Amino acid sequence: MLQVMIINGPNLNLLGRRQPEIYGEDTFDDFMIHLKGKFVDSDVELSYFQSNHEGELLDKLHEIGWSYDGIVLNAGAYTHTSVALADAVAAIETPVIEVHISNVHKREAFRHHSFLSPVCEGVIVGFGLRGYELAVQYFV
Ligand code: DQA
Repeated sequence: MLQVMIINGPNLNLLGRRQPEIYGEDTFDDFMIHLKGKFVDSDVELSYFQSNHEGELLDKLHEIGWSYDGIVLNAGAYTHTSVALADAVAAIETPVIEVHISNVHKREAFRHHSFLSPVCEGVIVGFGLRGYELAVQYFV
């Protein structure tokens, strides 16, 4: 059984309530039920972790980064600021796919740069929550 974890960073616990015109009206918990349903016949076990704290995101990457088969990471605003998260992604063995719900390239200039993209296996941007499904599909 493949082990794949979705890791969401700051403010993504607010999905469904936060700027729905950008991020949609679904909560991530509801979306996880839908996503698990999509992969029910696949040989993959999906798990989910969210934190608003950079250090907790680092700890989770360190914890699973040598044992899981794939990580889908939406680091939220830390994408654009965190050298520490980029170092962690570079350090671990598990491949990481960077996901953004919105098309960050259509938005403010400060969202155009990602410290994570150069150390991730791939990047999926702008497809809404569907981007997580596409990322999991890559590992299956
Ligand atoms: C985001 C884009 C980031 O710029 C923003 O800070 C987020 C969400 C996205 O999924 O579109 O928190 O990562």
